[in-house]
Formats: sequence, C-alpha cells, structure tokens
Amino acid sequence: MRIAIIGAGRVGRALGNVWHKAGHEIVWNLRDPDDPKHQDLPGEKLKTVGRGLTKSDLTVLAVPWEAVEDACREVGEDFGGVLVDCTNPINAEFTGLDTKGAHSGAHYIKTLLPRARVVKAFNQTGAGNMADAYYEAGRPVSFVASNDEAASSVVRQLSEDLGFDTIVVRGLEHARELEEMAWLWISLAMKQGHGPDFAFALLRR
Ligand SMILES: NC(=O)c1ccc[n+]([C@@H]2O[C@H](COP(=O)([O-])OP(=O)(O)OC[C@H]3O[C@@H](n4cnc5c(N)ncnc54)[C@H](OP(=O)(O)O)[C@@H]3O)[C@@H](O)[C@H]2O)c1
Repeated sequence: MRIAIIGAGRVGRALGNVWHKAGHEIVWNLRDPDDPKHQDLPGEKLKTVGRGLTKSDLTVLAVPWEAVEDACREVGEDFGGVLVDCTNPINAEFTGLDTKGAHSGAHYIKTLLPRARVVKAFNQTGAGNMADAYYEAGRPVSFVASNDEAASSVVRQLSEDLGFDTIVVRGLEHARELEEMAWLWISLAMKQGHGPDFAFALLRR
C-alpha cells in the first residue's frame, strides 16, 4: 500500500517506520524535506503538504491540533480520499479537549475536508506504543472509527501491522469517545505518574 503521511513527528515517524518495515510504501508530506532531522526517514519525501496525496491509497494526518487548519488547507477541500485522523483536539492550556464546537476533532476535520473519507485511528495511545506495540501481557487494543466500512477495513489491517488488537467501531460519531480515551491515556501518562509504557487492552470471554 502507498501511504502518505503528513507530519513526521512522534506519531508520523512511529507509524511510517513500522509500516515501511511491513512492506508499505511511505510518502512523507513535510514542510521542509531538506531539514537534516528528516534524513533517516524511509521512503519518498515531498515538499509541501498535499503533494503526492492523490497517488496514495490513504493519507495519515499526524500534526498538532493547532496545525490542522493549515494542513487541511494544503490538502485541499476537494480531497476525497481516505484520511486517517490521528490528531487529538487538546486545548492550549493542556487541561482537556477543545473540538471547536464540533462533535469531535474528527468532525471538525470533516468540516475542513467535507469529501474526505475520515477514519479516526492511532490517537488513543502513545507514539511509543505505535513504534513498539509488544507487551508480554498481551496485545494492546486499538480502535478504528469511521462511517466508511471499506476505509475502516484497510485501516484495521494497518493497525494489525503495528501489532494492535484492532476493533472496528461503526460510526464516526464514536471518534468523540476515542478522543476522550486518548485524554485519559495522556492524563495518566503525563499528569498522574504512570509514564508512557502502558497500554489499554480488551479482554474477552
Ligand atoms: N505523541 C503522541 O504520543 C500522540 C499519540 C496519539 C496521538 N497524537 C496526536 O497526533 C498528532 C501529532 O502528534 P506528535 O506527537 O506526532 O506531534 P509532533 O511530534 O509535535 O510532530 C508534529 C509534526 O507535524 C508537523 N506540522 C506541524 N505543523 C504543520 C503544518 N501546519 N503542516 C504540516 N505539518 C505540520 C511538524 O512538522 P515540522 O517538523 O515541520 O515542525 C511535525 O512533523 C497530535 O494531534 C497529537 O495530539 C500524539
């Protein structure tokens, strides 16, 4: 699969590196591809967000919440491909979420890119768990939420490639709970002393 990733920060890098090793083709959309910090990225590096998206099977949005308007503007409002939204709408005070009046951050992104097939995924756990999902106790869970069954199925496989026990949740309306779940993980990891080396799992009987 050819995967465009917007943003090569902690999340973009973690996802891109593992998917590259799993045999996927990665196309990075970077503001400055010549920056030495991007030297070790595997795959193609394109300048200007938006280039290369049309030739990719799906696009991953991995930018800070405050950058989503800019990034989506570059993607272009006509974009009708699969957009995997990894962002979390964390407020500037770092005290909770701010979805700018929308039902969820994913819904806000949908207002910016109305034709995009938005899938909420890879937002609920830390980038360290995306880079390495191995836990001796079992596989961490990862939820994929969308209104688009075909798109969810593709993203489900990518999540399995990362090593997650993956649950497809029907309906983008559940993106809201997934963003709250992310805030819970962040609060535990960064505010309540648990650190980043833990993950949520799903038990079945
Ligand atoms: N970190 C985590 O553990 C984690 C886990 C789950 C979800 N998330 C969410 O995932 C998103 C990315 O987080 P992160 O930790 O990967 O952030 P990060 O390490 O700060 O990286 C952000 C990336 O976005 C790029 N960027 C910033 N503004 C941009 C713009 N206007 N257009 C295009 N690219 C832009 C940056 O590029 P430059 O290098 O050019 O500045 C950088 O590569 C956030 O919404 C976050 O809430 C994070």
